[in-house]
Formats: sequence, structure tokens, C-alpha cells
Amino acid sequence: MQSIKFLIFFQIILLCHSIRGDGDSNKWACTSLDLCILDPASNIGDAIRFESQHDCRLSCGRYGAIWPMPTGDCSISNERVRFDPWKVRFNVVAPTAATTQFIRETNRIFVSNILKECVRNCTLDKGKEILVKATINSTSLSLDWNTDESYTLSIRTTATATFVDIKSVTVYGARHAFETLSNLITGSVSNGLLMTQAARVIDRPIFMHRGVLLDTSRNYMPLRIIRNTLDAMAASKLNVFHWHVVDTHSFPLEITRVPELQRFGAYSNEHTYSRTDTQNLIKYARLRGIRVLIEIDGPSHAGNGWQWGPMSGMGNLAVCINNTPWRQYCVQPPCGQLNPLNDNMYSIMKEIYEDIAEVGAPEETIHMGGDEVYIPCWNNTKEITQKMIDTGYDLSMKSFFKLWSNFHLKNLESWDDVNQRQYPRLQSPKSVIVWSSHLTEPNIIEEFLPKERFIIQTWVDSDDTINQDLMKRGYNIILSTKNAWYLDHGFWGRTPYYNWATVYNNRIEPNTKVLGGEVCMWSEYVDQNSVEARIWPRAGAAAERLWSNPKTSNILAQTRFYRYRDRLIARGIRPDAVIPKWCVLNEGQCL
Ligand SMILES: *[C@@H]1O[C@H](CO)[C@@H](O)[C@H](O)[C@H]1NC(C)=O
Ligand SMILES: *[C@@H]1O[C@H](CO)[C@@H](O)[C@H](O)[C@H]1NC(C)=O
Ligand SMILES: *[C@@H]1O[C@H](CO)[C@@H](O)[C@H](O)[C@H]1NC(C)=O
Repeated sequence: MQSIKFLIFFQIILLCHSIRGDGDSNKWACTSLDLCILDPASNIGDAIRFESQHDCRLSCGRYGAIWPMPTGDCSISNERVRFDPWKVRFNVVAPTAATTQFIRETNRIFVSNILKECVRNCTLDKGKEILVKATINSTSLSLDWNTDESYTLSIRTTATATFVDIKSVTVYGARHAFETLSNLITGSVSNGLLMTQAARVIDRPIFMHRGVLLDTSRNYMPLRIIRNTLDAMAASKLNVFHWHVVDTHSFPLEITRVPELQRFGAYSNEHTYSRTDTQNLIKYARLRGIRVLIEIDGPSHAGNGWQWGPMSGMGNLAVCINNTPWRQYCVQPPCGQLNPLNDNMYSIMKEIYEDIAEVGAPEETIHMGGDEVYIPCWNNTKEITQKMIDTGYDLSMKSFFKLWSNFHLKNLESWDDVNQRQYPRLQSPKSVIVWSSHLTEPNIIEEFLPKERFIIQTWVDSDDTINQDLMKRGYNIILSTKNAWYLDHGFWGRTPYYNWATVYNNRIEPNTKVLGGEVCMWSEYVDQNSVEARIWPRAGAAAERLWSNPKTSNILAQTRFYRYRDRLIARGIRPDAVIPKWCVLNEGQCL
């Protein structure tokens, strides 16, 4: 025993002499359990020492600091090069001016992101030269469920320079590669930045739909907050911003063809999104690999913004608006439900679609909402029940379901019409999305909503069988697991808060009918003052679930996750704390 101890001691002395760099600061080491620990006395006999925990984390463990974890090959050297981010040189090989321009913008965003990692002075007089080459071979800028987001990234270093080589089919794959590259870079305790000097990553997402829903109706969110959300999504390789922009409470969105909606529906002139705002947001999102999916909820969850029908001779476009006592007319105040028997309402809906199709990309579709229809509202409205009886309906549940599904089918026709006119070269009609509801119960859905056209976004508990049942019947689904991915829970009623581990461990059974999933930030109990901490870093846990669908649990991901959270902070996001700082600094000690 004694002699072994002596041997180890001797070995450590030898190692100490082999350490290069900043002398005192090189005290971090990566253990055999992939933990970065501060080891000032050099107790672990590992040849490589790092100047900081972040430096160690770059290459400690199979995936280093990459979040979400790559799904293909991943090898990362634990040697570094020091460089000046201002001097990185980019070379773009892309087939068109538009794709070249896209990647140039990506390069700009990349540099501005890594500059934020600088600890001291970013400027370095004698750093390694970094040459980045990105090769894209598809001319397409379209982003939907068929987009190829794969990429390969390799880094190699010679005596003269470091060469970063990115290859992808689409610009979106290349964009993700730059995001991964930023995960292989960290600040240095001295000037400049550190980058892994050799690496190879082959990567592609498991699920094509990786989203965050943000509700801007219950409480308005300023554009700055939405852009921050998009920035953090980009950092997490999330690709769908589901904008729940309107609801019964308020209608902040400008529809140029029907200005009354915003005029009567916004909380104030300040609580609005102009058409230009929307166009700019969509552009901002695109450059970050994100599509904006606008939801115009209906027939329920619509009221304020729709009040002006009678005064302009169009009749009641919606009914039960702001009715009291609310419990008799809706599930949540204020009440309101569109009038499914007023043709003017359908004309306005079509004008809304015209506006949305104009600002969106040709391949983009719409979310039609369609949840929580409260039958007693319609059934207590004489105008509706009378018309139903006159047209041969009875007042049974089935009749109301027919009314409700007709609402979606008529709107679908309008949506198809609008798209055929605006995009005559469209190959096939676009699918639309609706929420799961009574109408989508597996035993009746086929009677009401054709599976070729309607994708169902389910918001049920993880043990609910509806997902399996809908897929068996041929429906594509998007998962918003209510007892894991509802980020508003924990703040109202008896709902529990789901910590990042619960979000992460929401396993998804692979199935070609699962397009992906979304975490949902409903805004009844959150506004601009707290929303970032409510969404982040938890949405990042879902991002890894959707990108990689790992078989392992959050335990193996935690050190990478803490690093990911730090990265969000560097980029100006304000994520919630998930553990005491001591536990972050002392990896493996708080299990
Ligand atoms: C950063 O370093 C560069 C080069 O060494 C130097 O010219 C510059 O003044 C420094 N900036 C600051 C803020 O120290
Ligand atoms: C584009 O790249 C993919 C993947 O590397 C390759 O399979 C394909 O043949 C390439 N297409 C063209 C037109 O170069
Ligand atoms: C609607 O109201 C009528 C009359 O009050 C009632 O008979 C009927 O059951 C109600 N329908 C539903 C689906 O609740």
C-alpha cells in the first residue's frame, strides 16, 4: 500500500511539471466519471489540466459542452487553441445569392455570440488563425417538417492555422453547426477565446418539430422579450416558435385587412404587434433556424377584438363576449366564442388568413386552435339555437360537434383558397394544426377531422392513451405533455411545478407519426417581468429531448445542462437558477 501511494505521489509531481500555460490557474481536471473538478493539489493523476471549469467542460465527457447532445459521431480533443474572435475568417460555398447571404448573417450572429464569452480582453495580438468554411448544397430556404437539418462539423489544427469545416444540405443545418461550434468555444482567463483544436461531430435531430409556445394575449409580451425567446431557442436548436398571439383576453395582432380586430382587441395602443413587427420577427426567427407558427384560436378562446360586428352591420361575430357570471359561459374569464352560424365571421377569418399567408413563408401553415369549446355558451345563445333548429339540427352534443367541426372545415377551405391564390405553384394543400379536444377523441375524430389535413397537438398527461390511439388511426401528432411540458403549471390551482429534470425525462416513444413536441408558456400568471425565468432553462431540457431523445436520464446531462444555462446568461437571457452555485462548482457532490 505504502509503495503504491508513493508511486502515485511521484507521478503527480511529474505531471505538475508537464503543465503548460498560466501556472496557477491550471487547476481543473476531468475525472474518469466525466466530472470537472478543482484539483489544486493535483490529486488525480490525469495529464491534462484546464484553466477553468468552462475550459475543462469543453471536452470532458463524450459530448463536452454541446447542448443538445449530437445524435451521430462525436469526438472532441482536449487540446485548445487561443484565438481572437474578431479575426475569424469565413468562407461560404453556397449555390445561390440568397443561401450565401443567409450564411453570412449566420456568421455575424455566431461572432456576436462568441464575443459574449470573452472574460477579459477579446483582442489578441498573436492568436491562432481560424478559417471557417461552410458548404451548403441545397438552394432551398424552406423550413418545415421535411427540412434536412443535418450537418457535419470538423475542426483540425496545423502548425499555421485551425480549419473548421462545416457541411450541410440546407442553410438550417449549417446554422446548427455554427451553434455547435460555439459550444466548442469558451472564454479564457487571459485574453481572447479558447477553442477545441480538433473535433468531429455528425448530427441531425430526431424530431422535426421542436417548439416553444408563447402566449401574448393573456399578458402582452414586448418584442424585446420575443426576440430574447428566439435567441434562446436558437441556442437550443429549437425550430418552431408557436405564437399564441390572440385569445379571448386581447387581440394585439394587426390584421391590415381588418383593423378593427386590433383596435377593439388590444389592451392599449402600446400592447400591439404591427404588421411590420410581425414581418421583422419572422425574419429574425428564420435567420436563427426558427419558423413562426401563428395560432388564431377558435371557435373558443375568441372574444375581445370581435365585439364590433353589430355596430358595422355584420351581426354577432362572436357570442358570450365578457358574459357574467363567467362560469355559466366559459372555462375561464373573460368569456367569448365565435358565432359559427354567421357567414361574416368566416369572411373575416379568411381575411386574417390572407394577411398571415402574406407575411409567412410559402411553406408555412397555421394553427387553428380548437380547444375548450364550451357548449353551454352556444346552447344559451338564442340566435344560435334558433338557427340550428331552423336548419334541421337538434340540440344534442353531436349537433354541436358538427357545428364545431364545420367551423374548422370551412376555415380550412378558406386557408386552401388563400394559399392557392398566393402560391399557385404549391404542390399539395398544407396540413393545419388543432389542439386535442372532445372533437379529437379517437373514437369520433374520423367523423369530423380528416387525418390527411389535421395534425393534432395533444395536451394530455404522459400516461394518457390518446397519443397512441390517434397515431393508430393515422393522425400525425405534436406532443405538449401536460404533466411535464406545461411551463405555466405550479403557479395556479393545484398544478405542480415541473423542474428541468421532469421536463428532460419526458421520454418520447419514437414513431413516424410523432412530428415532435412543444413546451407551452401560457401567460395568465406570467408577464415580461418573469417570463424568461419561467421558460428558461427548462425549455432547453425539452430541446435535448426533442433533438436527441436520449435513453439516459437528466443525471448524465446535468453538468452539460449547467454549462448550457451559463451560456444563455452570457447571451443576455435570464434563466432561472436550478441548483446552488456550490453544486455547479462541485460537480458530482450534490447527487
Ligand atoms: C485589448 O488588447 C489590445 C491588444 O493587446 C489593446 O490594444 C487594447 O487596448 C486592449 N483593450 C482593453 C480595453 O484593454
Ligand atoms: C448534397 O449533399 C448531400 C449530403 O452530403 C449529398 O448526398 C448530395 O448528393 C448533395 N447534392 C448535391 C446536389 O450536391
Ligand atoms: C341545450 O339546451 C337544451 C335546452 O335547454 C337541452 O335540452 C340540451 O340538452 C342542451 N344540449 C346540450 C348538448 O347540452
